[in-house]
Amino acid sequence: MTDLSTDRPAEQATAAASGAAATERFRTKGHTGAAGADTARVDTLVSELLAATHDIIRRHKLTYAEYDALKAWLIQVGEDGEWPLFLDVWVEHVVEEVAGENREGSKGTIEGPYYVPGAPSLPAEATLPMRDGEEGTPLLFQGQVTCVDGTPLPGAVIEMWHADNDGYYSQFAPGLPEWNLRGTVVADAQGHFKVRTIEPAPYQIPTDGSCGRLISAAGWHAWRPAHLHLKVSAPGHQLVTTQLYFKGGSHVADDIARAVKPELILDPGPAADGGGREVTYDFVLDKV
Ligand code: DHB
Ligand code: FE
Repeated sequence: MTDLSTDRPAEQATAAASGAAATERFRTKGHTGAAGADTARVDTLVSELLAATHDIIRRHKLTYAEYDALKAWLIQVGEDGEWPLFLDVWVEHVVEEVAGENREGSKGTIEGPYYVPGAPSLPAEATLPMRDGEEGTPLLFQGQVTCVDGTPLPGAVIEMWHADNDGYYSQFAPGLPEWNLRGTVVADAQGHFKVRTIEPAPYQIPTDGSCGRLISAAGWHAWRPAHLHLKVSAPGHQLVTTQLYFKGGSHVADDIARAVKPELILDPGPAADGGGREVTYDFVLDKV
């Protein structure tokens, strides 16, 4: 997506393929729609959503042509399987804001559509699975996981996943090894971890599908800043789902998914040993 001139696989990622994979992944979580939802809650939420829509139609005098364009687009989002992408880019950040508002410790942010549980288990000092000669600036990412009271959390689990140097996620783009740039790191007895990887590239949400058509119709851009995804957990503590960004990187200030928070911006320096960069980031987990 960022540089098609390099040695990318001939087959390119498409919105339909990554949408279908993201839909499939979401379904494996076992969500079954509204079954079992509280009737009064559904009534309130859906009534208010519809009232807000009606209000927008009246205020902006929506035309039949615009109504039909909307209908055609909504049908297409479903056919393309792009609902997980649409929701995680334009809606999830507010759901996360509400979900995390009473949690102490490290800030969280959106999970996005590309988390896959069960990545290979790795020791506290490890290198994420990657191809021979994986492109990208080497990054040493290290830190400690503690409780809000300052106690180190031995054996804390740091799940990491991120895009490659072309902005592609394994299992959601063709031609990448299954667990490329994905791992489950188990911290040491003091909660320390030290992970070698490469710096991901900024990520462009697929532009060839219905989300892409919305973006160009509205005159927006499709970019997320380069980011590491993390889920950090320890027994008796609340799991934090977060992302970390790189100071000075493109689109840190105008993320299409609005998931950047000031506390989540890394400022890596030159690595002490070997090439690349290194950064220390500590995680603080709230109690359950
Ligand atoms: C999307 C992709 C991401 O990598 C992410 O972190 C959030 C959202 C998306 O395409 O919807
Ligand atoms: Fe992402």
